[in-house]
This record gives sequence, C-alpha cells and structure tokens, in this order.
Amino acid sequence: MTTACAPGKVILFGEHAVVYGRPAIAAPVTQVRACALVEDAPRRQGVFIRAEDLQVNHYLGVPITDEHPAYPLESTVRHTLARLGIEAIPDLTLTVSSTVPVARGLGSGAAVATAIVRALAQHFGHALTPDEISELVYQTEILHHGTPSGIDNTVIAFGRPVWFVKDQPIEILRVGQPLWLVIGDTGIISPTKLAVADVRQGWQQEAERYEALFNRIGAVAGRARKAIEGGDTATLGRLLNENQQLLEAIGVSSPELESLVDAARQAGAMGAKLCGAGRGGNMIALVRPESAQPIADAVRAVGATNVIVTHVAATDAQFGHTRGEGPPLDAPGTLTC
Ligand code: MEV
Repeated sequence: MTTACAPGKVILFGEHAVVYGRPAIAAPVTQVRACALVEDAPRRQGVFIRAEDLQVNHYLGVPITDEHPAYPLESTVRHTLARLGIEAIPDLTLTVSSTVPVARGLGSGAAVATAIVRALAQHFGHALTPDEISELVYQTEILHHGTPSGIDNTVIAFGRPVWFVKDQPIEILRVGQPLWLVIGDTGIISPTKLAVADVRQGWQQEAERYEALFNRIGAVAGRARKAIEGGDTATLGRLLNENQQLLEAIGVSSPELESLVDAARQAGAMGAKLCGAGRGGNMIALVRPESAQPIADAVRAVGATNVIVTHVAATDAQFGHTRGEGPPLDAPGTLTC
C-alpha cells in the first residue's frame, strides 16, 4: 500500500500572459491537497480507479468519453505506467481524494495528477525527479487546459515558489520575507480551458492590444520578483493591484471576484487580485499577519464560500530552504478557517 500527496497552488503574478511566453510567479498552497493511495488487488482485477469526490468508480480500459471525470485520471495512470516501463496492466486499486476545490484556480487537476504519479512511482519502486513528475503531469494538464503553459504542474511537482517562463528551465524563487495571503473563494466554478480559450479568441481578434497587455503583465511579474526576493511587501501589494487591473482589461475578472478583492483591500490588505484562470474561483490578498483574520472575515462577509489563510515561507538559499519558524512547505496546512 502506498500513499502520496500533492499541494494546491496560487499564481501570484502573470496568469494568462504566461501562456504567451511572459514570466509568472506561483507558490504551493499546502492547506489544500490531493492524495492517491495505491493498493495491490486480486489477480486479473486490472486497475480500478476510485475518486469519491468526483463520483468516479472506473476500471482502466472501460470505454469513456473525454468529458468523463475518470478520463484525466485514467490518462495519468496510462502515461505513468508507460513512463515506468510497466507494459502489462497491473492489478491494483487507486483511490484518489482531494480537498483542492475543482476549477477554482488552485490547481486541482495538477494536484490530483501529481499525487497519482508519485503514488504509482513509489509503489513500483521508482524515484522520479520533480522534473520528470512535472513532465508527466503536463500531459494531463493538456486535457484540462487545452494549451497549458506548464506553470501548474511545475509549481506543484516542485512544491516551491517558482519563477516560470514557458519552455525555459524553472527557477526556484528566493523569498525575502514571508508572504501572508488570504485566499477567498467566490464559489463559482470556472474551467481553465474556457477562460484560456476566450483569452485566445480576444488575442486573435485584437492581437496588438493583447500583446501590449501581456507585456505589461510580464513587466509586473519582473518587478514582483525583485520585491519578493528583497522582502518588499508594500511594493508587492501595489503590484498585485496593478496585475488585477490588467487581468480585468483582458476580460477574465468578474463582479464576484472584484467584490472579494474590494472587501480585502478595504479591510487593510496591501493588495489583491484574482488568481488562476479567473471568471470565478479564488482571489488572493497580501496581508500583514496580524490583519489576516479580520481580512478573512471581511471577505467571508461579502460572500466568499471558503477562506484560507496561508503564507509563503521565507527561504534562505536559491533552492528554497525554509527559514524561521514557519512549517516546512510540504507539511499539511493547519490554517484553513
Ligand atoms: C492556470 O492556473 C493559469 C493560466 O495561466 C493557464 C496556464 O498557465 O496554463 C490561466
């Protein structure tokens, strides 16, 4: 029996523009996680995939459409077994569970796929590197996103804050000061695939305007990197607000997101923006630790269906060793409120 888990994620800066080659910054969120349990099964059972949250009870190989909730799970299993060199279908039961809300900008699809890849690899005694895991999960991301940049699978497989540029080597980000975040959920399901497709349509129709907006988003991410490394949270807050304005201009915000953003700012957040594909899902607000609870309450008061208080821990070295008294980045979160 083998269990493996993977965290959710937030995109701090640069979503959507990252699909078009601009840089973005993301961090894992350990308060939500997906887990996969692999158990040996009786001979000739084959692979049985169970995911209660998704109402999936599925035998690998039983025909399903690509809209079926088991499809990305089956696909992840197939890619992973092929990567591990396992040709004959093994006899095992795979149980998947997740607290990462689906289609809300917190990387649910990538978290589930990462947990499956890790659990299968461990079960069969293979040690895959984060890069190898990320590459496998990217195959599943294509099913979820259509044209993913690869940022979700990267940040989740590495489990560290990352500076990400499509098709370039990933850089683990040094964090100068802990970043305290309030993450508020609009409760609105917004599949990434649809938002990404709409942005692509806008870009095709108004290439010059969208390219200019993507450039500005990329420049904000560049300034944010310096602020994160230098521990300059005041500048970071202003940059979150600037990024939000640019996301509104490319058409991925929504009244519900803006209501959470406004409530967080009015309650004292240093800055706030939507996070991920937008249209629904979650917003993030950068807060001082002592004001996290009142801001969480304010966001909940205007309709957030769930609120998470988390922090991106300060790191010393380029490779992300946690400094100070914060929990290790791969520890289970305890701060959901
Ligand atoms: C989704 O978490 C982030 C997007 O930029 C899509 C992607 O990067 O693939 C909206």
